[in-house]
Amino acid sequence: MDSRKWILFIGIIAIFLLQNSSDVEGRHHIHSHKKHKSNNGNAGSPVYAPSPGDPGSDNPDYPPPISSDPSNPPYSGDPGNSGTPVSPDPGNSTTGCTFNVMDFGAVGDGSTDDTAAFRDAWKEACQAESSVLLVPENYVFLITSTIFSGPCKPGLVFQVDGVLMAPNGPDCWPKGDSPQQWLVFYRLNDMTLTGTGTIEGNGEKWWSLPCKPHMGPHGSTLPGPCDSPALIRFFMSSNLMVTNLRIQNSPKFHVKFDGCEGVIIDRVSVSSPKLSPNTDGIHVENTKSVGIYNSVIANGDDCISIGPGCSNVDIESVTCGPSHGISIGSLGVHNSRACVSNITVRNAIIKDSDNGVRIKTWQGGAGSVTGIYFEDIQMDNVRNCIIIDQYYCLSKACRNQTSAVYLSDVSFRNIKGTYDVRSPPIHFACSDTVACTNITMSEVELLPFEGILVDDPFCWNAYGIQETLTIPPIDCLLDGMPETVGESNLYACN
Ligand SMILES: *[C@@H]1O[C@H](CO)[C@@H](O)[C@H](O)[C@H]1NC(C)=O
Ligand SMILES: *[C@@H]1O[C@H](CO)[C@@H](O)[C@H](O)[C@H]1NC(C)=O
Ligand SMILES: *[C@@H]1O[C@H](CO)[C@@H](O)[C@H](O)[C@H]1NC(C)=O
Ligand SMILES: *[C@@H]1O[C@H](CO)[C@@H](O)[C@H](O)[C@H]1NC(C)=O
Repeated sequence: MDSRKWILFIGIIAIFLLQNSSDVEGRHHIHSHKKHKSNNGNAGSPVYAPSPGDPGSDNPDYPPPISSDPSNPPYSGDPGNSGTPVSPDPGNSTTGCTFNVMDFGAVGDGSTDDTAAFRDAWKEACQAESSVLLVPENYVFLITSTIFSGPCKPGLVFQVDGVLMAPNGPDCWPKGDSPQQWLVFYRLNDMTLTGTGTIEGNGEKWWSLPCKPHMGPHGSTLPGPCDSPALIRFFMSSNLMVTNLRIQNSPKFHVKFDGCEGVIIDRVSVSSPKLSPNTDGIHVENTKSVGIYNSVIANGDDCISIGPGCSNVDIESVTCGPSHGISIGSLGVHNSRACVSNITVRNAIIKDSDNGVRIKTWQGGAGSVTGIYFEDIQMDNVRNCIIIDQYYCLSKACRNQTSAVYLSDVSFRNIKGTYDVRSPPIHFACSDTVACTNITMSEVELLPFEGILVDDPFCWNAYGIQETLTIPPIDCLLDGMPETVGESNLYACN
């Protein structure tokens, strides 16, 4: 070849290479553009980039919820800074269709990461009215932290008939994913989570992190951030149903609602070991109109916990235990205002639990808890069957303060059974400065499960009446009303 031919040859090669590479780049560009537009996950990679837009930031009016779990700092109200939200795709709409994750490439062998298939199925199901996203039986689907976000067409059903499983512990949790949550349902209206299957949290390795209580060397608790994910979180959503499912072994809270309205939970089973830390069964906060029915919960923390900003909560036919009982609170942490009203717990069984029915508030809070009805509750070997604790404190170094969340109109009716004699069965520790008022006791009969009667109920600054004589007898409730109930604006809730 002479030099001119040589140059021409090189030139052709160069043009060919350039064309090819620009072609690759072009394809890549189109691909990533599409990816961004649809917020699709990358099917090949188990690690998802942090979401480009924080979906919480377009709701500046939403008050930051205060974590009712005192072992965790309050967090901001966003649904998470990682796990790319799956947003609806504008497209043609259909009605009543089933979107089986298998048709979107899910494998369901319990080890393949099926997140991309779930995201794709969600996008299509979201666009179709009354559609079903089906997680079929006889398969085990592993997915990473995912925000299933709306708005979607109404009537969407997320149906888990197989097993839907979280990554196995912190070492398997993708570094880019939020360690605070796993499945998140965000900005939805009229949605159902149901099925005959199981949602498996694989929480064991989280429970034994050395920062969890007594899990460090020689039973110590090592310091440090100790984030663990809530298994299922509903955020800023309305008209939700959760039915039938078995939900188990969550790293932290099993099912959590915040900023929601209109929630029905029916025939759900939650289970985790007795010694799994912070595994509340169902937690609600800043949520109104909630019904929890016919469910069985066994776990290592509160069976049901009700945080600030809840009203009109109806809990019926629930069995708890082992657990830490049904709890309102903790409220008023860091001098915050908490408002909780109209909560009914009826026809419950609480067994082998650290508490029965409890209201707990921190010193220094504001707001009120009012209209609380605990009725027809059977206790079996329960410590602190009935407890109001306005000195809730984890560190034992909390100072007494002059303000408190004001408690009034709390009734305990037909509460019978047995207590664990390590604690008095009735304990009313109301704030020094803000008395509890209008506590009603009726047909409360509690006997020792074994051992000697602790006929020593405790009351401090608690006003109320006994409609019938209580067993053990309680003579420390104060008659009438205190002279001052304090500055009303401090306790006001609208
Ligand atoms: C959706 O598709 C159907 C049939 O394929 C068509 O008749 C309808 O017009 C489409 N609707 C929209 C909104 O594109
Ligand atoms: C209290 O809550 C129940 C639902 O649990 C609701 O039916 C009732 O209307 C509420 N009462 C008031 C006074 O809001
Ligand atoms: C706070 O007040 C209660 C009730 O008066 C009392 O039992 C407790 O010892 C006080 N705690 C501190 C730290 O002062
Ligand atoms: C006391 O509380 C009960 C609910 O337990 C309520 O029906 C009643 O109206 C309250 N009484 C007063 C005087 O507020």
